Amino acid sequence: MEQRIDTIVYQRLDELFRDGYRHGLLSAPPELLGEIPRGAVERLLNSRLPRELDYTAADLLRTTVGTVLYGAIRRRPGQGGGLMTETTGRVALVTGSSSGIGAATARLLAARGMRVVVNYLHSEAAADEVVAGIDAAGGQAMALPADVRDAAAVDTLLERVRATWGEVDVLVHNALTPYAIKSFQDMTWAELGGKLDDEMRAAFIVTKAVLPAMTEQGWGRLIYLGTGLSRRPREGMIALGTAKAALTQFARYLAQELGPAGITVNVVEPGPVAETRMSQVLDEEQTRRQIAATPLGRLARPADVARAVAFYAGEDSSFITGTTTAVNGGMAMY
Ligand SMILES: NC(=O)c1ccc[n+]([C@@H]2O[C@H](COP(=O)([O-])OP(=O)(O)OC[C@H]3O[C@@H](n4cnc5c(N)ncnc54)[C@H](OP(=O)(O)O)[C@@H]3O)[C@@H](O)[C@H]2O)c1
Repeated sequence: MEQRIDTIVYQRLDELFRDGYRHGLLSAPPELLGEIPRGAVERLLNSRLPRELDYTAADLLRTTVGTVLYGAIRRRPGQGGGLMTETTGRVALVTGSSSGIGAATARLLAARGMRVVVNYLHSEAAADEVVAGIDAAGGQAMALPADVRDAAAVDTLLERVRATWGEVDVLVHNALTPYAIKSFQDMTWAELGGKLDDEMRAAFIVTKAVLPAMTEQGWGRLIYLGTGLSRRPREGMIALGTAKAALTQFARYLAQELGPAGITVNVVEPGPVAETRMSQVLDEEQTRRQIAATPLGRLARPADVARAVAFYAGEDSSFITGTTTAVNGGMAMY
């Protein structure tokens, strides 16, 4: 029997799905599902929603079940115990999260209820450690290797994510490919051109790979890690600074193109960050000078950067796109 449901119900259901509750529903404890068989919930949640406002009786049932479950289900124990948040259950891919800023970001997104893919290139043990820490804190994560410059490797990674959790909702592209630290006069084209190619190839590949699913669901977050060096030159950093400047402009173009698809695109631009591999290239005197030039009186820590990323990954930033946030304690103001 055909049955018409008004716009409000359609919008409610749409919100329900858009906001990722389907992920939370699938991991709901059985007592909250009551008499509704888990298989039925999975079928309900996996089915595609028509865009029209005319619904059949089956759609009405889906709406009702979905709405009741949404109201009933709370966060899993160990994740804070409160009501589900809008980030609960979203799948986040953090490239290069076996160390530094990426690792801190993976931990924070997991603490906020996301299911996190901890990507790495070589550091399997370090990535496993990040995952173990997240598990111990009651979150969900998996470690997966892939060279982000290799489209086939990224596809394989995404197939493994898909098989376990479904599509990626949030991409944090953070992986740091190697680069030469030297003056322009000493630099070869292979070094400068190689870094530009690595940086943009990786961003291109990971973005292309996650985009179809984001576009289809009409919701997505793309967050790129830039650097203050792309605006303010520092001796020896021409390769990294130039490559990251290209990345930042790439993100703005994406923001313009993908806004209508419900996808926001932003850049987090740290100054020097302590406790990372990069900070080890600074000697004591350089570190001292940088702290002296920072109004907030210290270098950034990975967790400071992770909080800005998490803001962009969540719902509080939903009307913000094409922006860059500097996380540098006021060292540079622009
Ligand atoms: N640290 C800073 O002071 C600073 C300042 C401004 C901006 N940033 C930006 O913040 C981001 C993270 O920096 P970080 O210092 O935290 O980095 P990091 O500690 O050096 O970690 C780099 C990560 O990238 C991974 N990686 C490297 N090449 C990869 C590839 N081809 N495919 C996949 N993963 C790869 C590494 O994995 P393996 O360990 O397996 O190799 C590691 O997980 C970078 O984009 C960087 O430019 C950092």
